[in-house]
Amino acid sequence: MEMEKLVALCKRRGYLFQSSEIYGGLNGFWDYGPLGVELKRNVKEAWWRDMVSGHDDLSVLPGAPAAYEMTGLDCTIIMHPQVWKCSGHYDLFHDYMVDCRQTRKRYRHDQVRGRWAQCKEQRVFVTTMVEASLEEEESQRRAMKFFKLRNKDLDALSWDGGFQVLTEIDDFSQVLAPDATELDTLTEPREFNLMFKTYVGALSGEEGAAFLRPETAQGIFVNFKNVVDSSRVKVPFGIAQIGKSFRNEITPRNFTFRSREFEQMEIEFFCHPNASADWYTYWRDRRMQWYQALGLAGERLQLREHDADELSHYSTGTADIEYAFPFLPSGEYGELEGIAHRGDFDLRSHMEGKLDESSDPLTVQLDEHGKPKYRGSGKDLTYRDEVSNERFTPHVIEPSAGADRATLAFLCEAYTEDAAPDDKGKMQTRTVLSLHPRLAPIKAAVFPLVKKDGMPEIAKDIYRALKKKFNVFYDEKGAVGRRYRRQDEAGTPFCITVDGDTLTDQTVTLRDRDTLEQTRIKIDEVVSQIEQRVQA
Ligand code: GAP
Repeated sequence: MEMEKLVALCKRRGYLFQSSEIYGGLNGFWDYGPLGVELKRNVKEAWWRDMVSGHDDLSVLPGAPAAYEMTGLDCTIIMHPQVWKCSGHYDLFHDYMVDCRQTRKRYRHDQVRGRWAQCKEQRVFVTTMVEASLEEEESQRRAMKFFKLRNKDLDALSWDGGFQVLTEIDDFSQVLAPDATELDTLTEPREFNLMFKTYVGALSGEEGAAFLRPETAQGIFVNFKNVVDSSRVKVPFGIAQIGKSFRNEITPRNFTFRSREFEQMEIEFFCHPNASADWYTYWRDRRMQWYQALGLAGERLQLREHDADELSHYSTGTADIEYAFPFLPSGEYGELEGIAHRGDFDLRSHMEGKLDESSDPLTVQLDEHGKPKYRGSGKDLTYRDEVSNERFTPHVIEPSAGADRATLAFLCEAYTEDAAPDDKGKMQTRTVLSLHPRLAPIKAAVFPLVKKDGMPEIAKDIYRALKKKFNVFYDEKGAVGRRYRRQDEAGTPFCITVDGDTLTDQTVTLRDRDTLEQTRIKIDEVVSQIEQRVQA
């Protein structure tokens, strides 16, 4: 599937719009339109229902080491600045960037790609910032412009090796930056903290400085004690949160994949250190199954365990759930969710102060006076097991998902083109969003075949009965084939049509978006049929 087609459909049907579009848009920010908002809500609701509110805490679920409880939180976006010092984000949450002195544009060092062009005894590293599928064409266009070549002189240009990332290039003197016309315009890479800074209250100086959260996780850690003390949860248990996070990404791109404002769905699961390896395996597999059950069932979804050298020192395991998004080069996958074994790193950091991530996890990072560099809260965030009387700092397994990335993956997977007969029985290309019925923005559309003979009245009654439970749509305009196709594109899994037979036998046609199968069912079975099929 070509990404442009999905982007166009998202705009046309009201799934996604560029933020502030009438002013030219704002890079890295996206708005969800009337259908998009329903889809994303359904993704978040499916997650909350399956992980939290619908969780059966009385049974041992398949693959789980024991029964466990789940509860939720909704924390603020702006938190005490000390949270980010102790979490490590203040010091360590950065990317390396390079600036172009000619165009004044800024790029992430590891995202600029290019290849060596040779012409007229000169060797130039020509970079581009376009999608992988367009790189070859674009770098050729830029090289020809740089060397002032016309199409007939193309033979004078040759390429030395394939595409490389800028991080592999030591000397920038022969680099042609993405939009520059001269060589050697890039600065050396510099650190750039990704947290958005703001000021709280009337204090404009550093005393009032605060940050928009770059992840929802820290709100859970700092409330660990509150949750244990106020609810009756016992380890093992998980706390879930869905909410906005903000990262000042240097080069946001690939539609909503890398945005500056996005939503996360995170669980911090607290368990006994001895059981943490088993819980890690459980959550890794459970989360993978969740995506599969909602339609990402094919080879485009994969689970990738990090190699030992990719792991943080405190972690005994991290896995990414990845999807082969169509905007990535063939064979490459993008992260949907990370499942990390975080040990007791976060709770200890908030108790004792920022731990030293670079060396021994048991040492607190000290300043030049030998005092903890960033003091923790000093609060006791350990846990006492009432049965064994053992006191310990729980270990944490963190399944951390992005609501926008999941929504985008479901959209990419759902986009299909096939053939279906039009109103005259002629086969036409049909664009379908085959979203899982639980995720589909509109669950069913109700049509009277024609606008007469009492059909609209019956159809409206069916619509009203369904509307009490689901988001449904009523449409009486135009040929019925066209109405079906509009719903196919919107991802509506079922259409119900009232026709001449309805007037005599009280039945309607139920059409399935994916199989195109049409069955006749009784009017008084419509609600229960849709209910069953949406849950299936
Ligand atoms: N608490 C751990 C954490 O935040 P992360 O891998 O940085 O881990 C988790 O983020 C998930 O959040 C990612 O797997 C992705 O789905 C989503 N995410 C992260 N940055 C994003 C961005 N700039 N735009 C959209 N989603 C993003």
